[in-house]
Amino acid sequence: KFEGLAPTPPMGWNSWNTFQVEINEKMIMEMADELVKTGMKDAGYNYLVLDDGWMAMERDSLGNLVPDPKKFPHGLRAVVDYVHAKGLKFGMYNCAGTLTCAKYPGTRGYEYQDARNYAAWNIDYLKYDWCNTKGINAKEAYTTMSNALRKAGHPMIFSICEWGVNKPWEWGEPVGQLWRTTEDIWQVFDSVHSHGTWDALSVMRISDLQDTLRRYAGPDHWNDPDMLEVGNGMTLSEDRTHFSLWAMMAAPLMAGNDIRKMTPQTKEILTNKDVIAIDQDPLGIQGFKFSDKDSLQIWFKPLQKGDWAVCFLNRGSTEKKVSFNWQQTPVVDNIFHHTLDNKGRYTLYNVWSHKNEGTTEKVFNASVKSHDVVMFRLKKG
Ligand code: DGJ
Repeated sequence: KFEGLAPTPPMGWNSWNTFQVEINEKMIMEMADELVKTGMKDAGYNYLVLDDGWMAMERDSLGNLVPDPKKFPHGLRAVVDYVHAKGLKFGMYNCAGTLTCAKYPGTRGYEYQDARNYAAWNIDYLKYDWCNTKGINAKEAYTTMSNALRKAGHPMIFSICEWGVNKPWEWGEPVGQLWRTTEDIWQVFDSVHSHGTWDALSVMRISDLQDTLRRYAGPDHWNDPDMLEVGNGMTLSEDRTHFSLWAMMAAPLMAGNDIRKMTPQTKEILTNKDVIAIDQDPLGIQGFKFSDKDSLQIWFKPLQKGDWAVCFLNRGSTEKKVSFNWQQTPVVDNIFHHTLDNKGRYTLYNVWSHKNEGTTEKVFNASVKSHDVVMFRLKKG
């Protein structure tokens, strides 16, 4: 892979969660405009990623992928140039199989040719899916594409979208910058959403699965718990909790809502710089679930300069009281070797109210609403 492209988890916007294959050049250009106008770009969302459905159903006579002429009448390079002119980067999608999940032409057998075309179109990011791959070895298929991108010579983030089926965390680090850890997310907080033949996952279920994988993540090699569903139908507190958890897990932050129409509240969540700073912390440590009792979870994440993030999360359906004695509760990250300084003093900076709310010298008492969080940055001193 190209080294050094994702020192912190990648951020951006992706077309799939809201639009599926109903994408076109006008909409993508509007999305680029809005990323700038809404302040999303300034907040760090700099990759605009076109997901499944951008291609014509057939390759051309030379075997090249071609964009759907109805959706992209001016070709892809024109859209890429437009997006680049806005100071954003451009991402695209294909699949390791013979066909993509939505049955467009897949890359199997065309890896080097497709990589050359992406480079010629100036693509900065490739998401590479895992449908229609019967009999294919995952590690080999992703390594081949990663090598093809390198050979094509245009620096590109390689996003391994293999849903955790073949443990990509065990082989993904030299291959790509991020790998999906689970199947697809759905805009539900904590219940099952069935697609008939497969179930999509809730925000809480994904966090359960990803929590066990933190040892595998770090700068330039991230666990990817899938794209954001903020603004796509959950309640405000559920959206806030989803965003907080993704930050605690050092997850790539790919917005998946129609940002042309988002409410001020959705925008406020997505552009919360204090929460984003926790996600993007330069140490690059995925946080951990410290405790989980009676639907009340406490998550911790070591941050640079001795700071910590802490998130009190209420998974249950009624309001819950929480009490935490900072000076008498050992908090130790056994994997990355950080210890909360029980004798030292931290200021509790609430990253959702943006206010200092006391210090760790006093026992912390609060109530957390159902499906909501109270989240602090513990600032040393
Ligand atoms: C499955 C992936 O997990 C989704 O994120 C999306 O890319 C779809 N495939 C597209 O068909």
